Amino acid sequence: MIKEKVEKALNGQINAELYSGYLYLSMSAYLESISLPGMANWMRVQASEEQFHGMKMYDYLIEAGGRANLMTIEAPKSEWKGPLDVFKAVLEHEQKVTSLINDLVDLAFSEKDHASYNMLQWFIHEQVEEESTASDMVGKMNMIKDDPSALFMFDQELAKRVFTPPVKE
Ligand code: FEO
Repeated sequence: MIKEKVEKALNGQINAELYSGYLYLSMSAYLESISLPGMANWMRVQASEEQFHGMKMYDYLIEAGGRANLMTIEAPKSEWKGPLDVFKAVLEHEQKVTSLINDLVDLAFSEKDHASYNMLQWFIHEQVEEESTASDMVGKMNMIKDDPSALFMFDQELAKRVFTPPVKE
């Protein structure tokens, strides 16, 4: 049976993951509004990934005998200063999520909740990938700077991204 403190913290993280999805969907809407449909698609796929993260934790919580308590999802920001600003915000957000996951791992460890500790290892690996991807996007946007044709080509590239749910472990 899951420890009460861990159950509460995982419920908080489910909310944080769903909020991440909501934030990225808001970024997608912003990118659509400035005529970057490929980037909007990329961000929409990112939102689906966050939904997947939230549901992965939700499923675990139930399987571990806990109770999922859904809370209000905060309204995300809706305006940015351009695509570079958006990707910088993604990187900053992912760094924040990494620290939340690290706190959860510390809690599971101190509560001797080995099952939750084990489940959270997936999220630790995922955050390495999330930060690396966001950092890569910031790097590419910095190279493009104000070159409209490079921006157009990069946008077309990002239009190809599709959501593939990770294989369940
Ligand atoms: Fe669920 Fe992007 O971290």
